[in-house]
Amino acid sequence: MDAFEYNANPGRVVFGSGTLQKLPDEISRLNLKAPLVLSTPQQVGQAEKVRDILQGKIAGIFTEATMHTPTHVTEKALEYAKAQNADLVISIGGGSTIGLGKAISIRTGMPHICIPTTYAGSEMTPILGETANGLKKTRSDPKILPGTVIYDVDLTMTLPPAMSATSGVNAIAHAVEALYARNTNPVINLMAAEGTRALASALPEIVKNPGSQSARASALYGAWLCGTCLGSVGMSIHHKLCHTLGGSFNLPHAETHTAVLPHAISYNAPKIPEAMEKLAEVLPDSNGDAIQGLNVLLSKLQVKRGLKDFGMKEEDIDKAADIAVSNPYWNPREIERAPIRELIRRMTTEMVAAPVLSTPDDRILEAAEPVATQEAPRTLSDEELSITYDIDRTLREIREARYKRIALQFPDDMLSDAPRVFQLLSRGLDKRNATDSNVSQTQEEGANSTADSDGLAHSVSQLNVTDTAETSPKLYILADTSYGTCCVDEVAAEHVNADVVVHYGRSCLSPTSRLPVIYVFTHKSLPIDPVIRAFKETYPDPTTKVILAADVTYIDHIPTVHSRLLQEGYTNLFATNLVHDPSSAIPNRTVPDSVRETPDSLSEWQLFHISDPPTALLMTLASRVASVHIYPTNDPKNENVKPLAASTAIALRRRYATLTRLSTAPIFGILVNTLSVKNYLHIVEHVKQKIAEAGKKSYMFVVGKLNAAKVANFSEIDGWVVIGCWESSLVDSKDFWKPVITPFELELALKEDAERVWTGAWQSDFQGVLNQPHQESKDTEEDETTPSNGVTADEEEDMSESESAPPEFDLRTGRYVSHSRPMRNPAPRVSAPAEDAASAASGPSAARALAKRAKGDLAMIGGAFSPGAEFLRSQRTWKGLGSDFEIQYEEDAPDNTLVVEGRKGIARGYTVGDSIDRH
Ligand SMILES: NC(=O)c1ccc[n+]([C@@H]2O[C@H](COP(=O)([O-])OP(=O)(O)OC[C@H]3O[C@@H](n4cnc5c(N)ncnc54)[C@H](O)[C@@H]3O)[C@@H](O)[C@H]2O)c1
Repeated sequence: MDAFEYNANPGRVVFGSGTLQKLPDEISRLNLKAPLVLSTPQQVGQAEKVRDILQGKIAGIFTEATMHTPTHVTEKALEYAKAQNADLVISIGGGSTIGLGKAISIRTGMPHICIPTTYAGSEMTPILGETANGLKKTRSDPKILPGTVIYDVDLTMTLPPAMSATSGVNAIAHAVEALYARNTNPVINLMAAEGTRALASALPEIVKNPGSQSARASALYGAWLCGTCLGSVGMSIHHKLCHTLGGSFNLPHAETHTAVLPHAISYNAPKIPEAMEKLAEVLPDSNGDAIQGLNVLLSKLQVKRGLKDFGMKEEDIDKAADIAVSNPYWNPREIERAPIRELIRRMTTEMVAAPVLSTPDDRILEAAEPVATQEAPRTLSDEELSITYDIDRTLREIREARYKRIALQFPDDMLSDAPRVFQLLSRGLDKRNATDSNVSQTQEEGANSTADSDGLAHSVSQLNVTDTAETSPKLYILADTSYGTCCVDEVAAEHVNADVVVHYGRSCLSPTSRLPVIYVFTHKSLPIDPVIRAFKETYPDPTTKVILAADVTYIDHIPTVHSRLLQEGYTNLFATNLVHDPSSAIPNRTVPDSVRETPDSLSEWQLFHISDPPTALLMTLASRVASVHIYPTNDPKNENVKPLAASTAIALRRRYATLTRLSTAPIFGILVNTLSVKNYLHIVEHVKQKIAEAGKKSYMFVVGKLNAAKVANFSEIDGWVVIGCWESSLVDSKDFWKPVITPFELELALKEDAERVWTGAWQSDFQGVLNQPHQESKDTEEDETTPSNGVTADEEEDMSESESAPPEFDLRTGRYVSHSRPMRNPAPRVSAPAEDAASAASGPSAARALAKRAKGDLAMIGGAFSPGAEFLRSQRTWKGLGSDFEIQYEEDAPDNTLVVEGRKGIARGYTVGDSIDRH
């Protein structure tokens, strides 16, 4: 146990119900006879009760006690006390009244009897806080400590539940800071824990049932203990913040304590693990997390938690931060202005109205989900690590290409291995450098030796004598990738100016746009026998045409599985190899020769896939091959694994339903979810153009990792198109408010109903979309001057009156379908029957017809004729203040500046004064 000092404060405490009746005895004990009774204006009744109990034998009653003990009130009370010849102060009330009692007592030396009616705890402290010129200052003096305290539970019964709640949390705050005070001690720790426990269980009961005598007694008991803590040890940042906010910004005391406490604890939490543990033990429902327990308590108490609610202004945040960090109290964590300012900002602005879908208030301070998996990974030996992470091959490739700045990109679950991989690689590179200097030395000596211990290390590229002068390669570990872990993070790599990225783990193998990549899939072991057994059970006929594929982390087992199956008599197998081509018929894998010649013949093959494929891959495969069986690898010890037949029909149907919902959507959001995948800019342009050609609007957004909250803020967007890697662009989550589709799906969605035929084909790679032969849009193909479909210009003029057409509603969404886009060509009619297609196509030419008629005299915006702008230009009558003088309302009006008196009278149906006549 650590050494400690403990001072017991010498106050006398009388506790119970009806204890106010003992007041005359307490005064006799002190041998005094002219008490001045203090209260707030709200508690005059209780002050008078004191007078009655004392049978009127008092010097007087002063009822102007005010929060934060302003010195001008104290002076007024002092004058009154002197005038009345008072020899004792009795304060009945909360901290405000007791504060006034202390201020008078310390100035006059008069003894002080406290009768507390709240849980603030001031009665147990030798501390006095006073406010002068907008600044609250506290001082401590043993003489300030009241000599006698009478706790009468009956007096607290009238404390309103809301006030009881915040006053009680105010008391808890004293105990909390006592737990981590610099001069804390075991006795105070016991009191703090017991006080908090008593209050935390009594307060919710009081809020539910304010008349509960037992809960009230328990709370007052807790308040006494917490008050004792406050009076015995030093307080820290929480109290400093509350004094700042109360003293300088006049925020209510107990409410401020309540709002600030969780924030203050979260600021200190990293430095006070023991206190947090003790606190968690006494706060119900904390599940080992004190902040969680406190949040639960505050929500049970239904208290307000935003400082704005109490009058704190955003423009005062900086001033508050300045005051809070000046003359700081001792605190377990260093007081820094920036985080303290941020804390005040959060308490002022964010806790009041958290944005939709963002973390709810009460979870803001909860611990976040751990990123890495919880399982403690087995520590691999250097040898195993070297094999798993392909150290030799990586070193070789780095040497061959003479990379100097190498970024190592790890997925979160492999980050724990990162330092050792880094070490192994740097050791390997250092060794090579050493070998290099030897080599060059030998060469200089003329011994043209070819003896070589390290094969490729002495390839032609190494024969450069200047090599020794080169700087040795530098390695960098990249963590927390900008996008999905399957993608190469070129953005992060460019921050360290890397000239190559070593990508570890599963990869989507999307081609990168700038940097070369060394892929290390990290090998995973696989017992082969169960695979063979499972395969044989799945395909009993040895002539079945089966493609063998595996996730990249298992890909090196494919040749073994293949040769074993050939031995078993299978005759129609195709073992896939890796290719870097997500648009291949089997993404990133080779296909049988016959399929390369006739791609449709892929549907004759079945596919056996080792390990779960990502959904995007599964859907692509399932739409192309006869069937897919997946051999799960998540339970390597299981000898009897059964392959699962993959069914994607429902998932595909859901995708189709999603994209058809978007066929009438007028506004799309393009979510650029990559800055690395090759050709992403081309597909962005392509998608933009497609949406524009369809007469719809698009907005572009660039996001890192995509989640529902990020896109939920843009309610105007009807649907999202994700441009990212082929694996992560498939977002099939119900969390998203609006459908999220791939560029391939967009192409389908933008087709007219009559044209859209669902073949069941699906692809997630956007390169396939770009590779399609580009269809010129209808209006650019058509001759500018020839009206389409043989319709004459006059007829078109009639058709341009789209307003007169009956309104159309989308039967899928029930929304009104608008065909007119003022700045664009009209949108194609969604459900136009084939023979009616002419009317849809007439839209663009109708706009041109208008242009012709007006002989170029039309208003244009952004190069497009705008009928709306033209209307404003030519037809509007109101052209700004004063402009109406120019308007000739009537041909023969002699003077349009004439002022004419308007009509006056009483509106119909109204009566005037007492008259019963209605107008
Ligand atoms: N010096 C210290 O050690 C110390 C400790 C705690 C609080 N304080 C000071 O005390 C003040 C806050 O005290 P508080 O939170 O007790 O509030 P308070 O004394 O300001 O009381 C708040 C209101 O509740 C009323 N009230 C009090 N008890 C009541 C009851 N039983 N029934 C009905 N109404 C009742 C009061 O008349 C007042 O209107 C602050 O100025 C604070 O700085 C000082």
